[in-house]
Amino acid sequence: MKGFDVLIIGGGPGGYCAAGRAAAGGLNVALFEARALGGVCLNEGCIPSKTLLHAAKYYDHALHGETFGVTVAEVTYDHAKVVARKDQVVKTLVAGVTSKMKSHNVTVITSHAQITGKDSAGFTVAAAGETYAGKQLIIATGSAPSIPPIPGVGEEMADGFVLTNREILDLKEIPDQLTVIGGGVIGLEMAAYFQTVGSQVTVIEALEKIAGPTDGELSALLQKELEKKGVRFALDAIVTEISDGKVTYQQGGQSFEAKADKVLLSTGRRPMIEGLGLESIGVYVDRGAVVTDNHLRTNVPGVYAIGDVNGKWMLAHTAYREAEVAVNHILGRRDYMRYSAVPSVIYTSPEVACVGDTEETATARGIAVEVVRVSTLYSGRYVAETQGEDGLCKLIIEKKTKKLLGVHMLSPYASELIYGAALMLELRLDIDEIKELIFPHPTVGEVIREGLFMV
Ligand code: NAI
Repeated sequence: MKGFDVLIIGGGPGGYCAAGRAAAGGLNVALFEARALGGVCLNEGCIPSKTLLHAAKYYDHALHGETFGVTVAEVTYDHAKVVARKDQVVKTLVAGVTSKMKSHNVTVITSHAQITGKDSAGFTVAAAGETYAGKQLIIATGSAPSIPPIPGVGEEMADGFVLTNREILDLKEIPDQLTVIGGGVIGLEMAAYFQTVGSQVTVIEALEKIAGPTDGELSALLQKELEKKGVRFALDAIVTEISDGKVTYQQGGQSFEAKADKVLLSTGRRPMIEGLGLESIGVYVDRGAVVTDNHLRTNVPGVYAIGDVNGKWMLAHTAYREAEVAVNHILGRRDYMRYSAVPSVIYTSPEVACVGDTEETATARGIAVEVVRVSTLYSGRYVAETQGEDGLCKLIIEKKTKKLLGVHMLSPYASELIYGAALMLELRLDIDEIKELIFPHPTVGEVIREGLFMV
């Protein structure tokens, strides 16, 4: 039996961040990863999709540069080359994580790990024919696509007609027709990518709006922008069958068919807990997710659950912070998890980035708010760099205290500036305090400051 201070199961953003922070804190750490370090985010999620989307942006600029005085005679898109570059980007970053683990002396075990119980040495885990013991255990196993029970889905996944976020990133060719089931984050990013590089994309969404919990006005604007690029949407639509070459769905009591060369299934994700052995130590699970408190503790003392597996936010950046909070708790440092200022981004063009309350969530919490709507046309940089698209910034301000509670943007650069808004929320700044801050000019972020003078 090999003994450690901390065993961490899962080498995605949560797991590798926890391993690095715990080792830096002087703990002896073992990290188990069945596949590749970096998890879904690095290998088949955030990073590969952003690499593809960036290439598509170049392509789009080359095709539509006339407004800016740039005409390109012959524009081609080499998808195979883009995918090869994506693989190289992933390889570089996985190597970076690997070397970080090495420099921290983290023992990395490339194997599926199963919790087997607890004895005097600590929690026991079986992996690669060995038993490991740890005084503390961090579960960071992430999530997997949730597959709805649509007739035909199993067969068509086996045939390679229906893909998840994993397989779609490795398509060798651009499908002529792509049907996306689920108009959430993954569905919209992939719809934007494939429509830009040549597919005819149809998005079928069960709800009346796209982009899930995103502010309704921004969802509608994003839909309009994607429609301008040619994406078709079927909202409030229920998929009834997937069969070779088509997706059948019901909308308004009528049946429709969307023809497809490929189908992307992006209907949400579920925490990965199967075969983990949680029951061997009695970890409490509710609706498929490991239940945690604001120190990321489970009901079992010494066992923590971070990242997608606790089902709270399912975002890599939240997992990083949860990792730090869990490790700080193990190290006896004061820290706790706050979820009121978690930014979320949809990396379409334009991007959508949000943090904090929407009008709806604030009202549901019984808070009276003022909503300020600022057009991004107030930004000189926005006008200089765009061709008249609609961009919007919405500020949610608590009426009583004048504190900023939420910022929601549809605009280029939104992903890069939203952390500034998160900082304002985290520090509980009121609008007079924010007005005293100097924003760089010209930037799109200036619209936040401008909006505060409209209150
Ligand atoms: P999601 O929860 O964002 O969206 C799923 C959508 O599918 C929902 O709008 C839902 O109403 C719809 N849906 C469910 N069943 C359906 C059905 N049978 N027919 C039609 N529509 C149906 O899930 P998604 O896009 O799969 O993403 C999974 C997770 O990955 C999310 O938690 C997301 O936060 C994370 N992610 C984050 C990214 C980012 O931060 N940029 C990028 C990609 C994923």
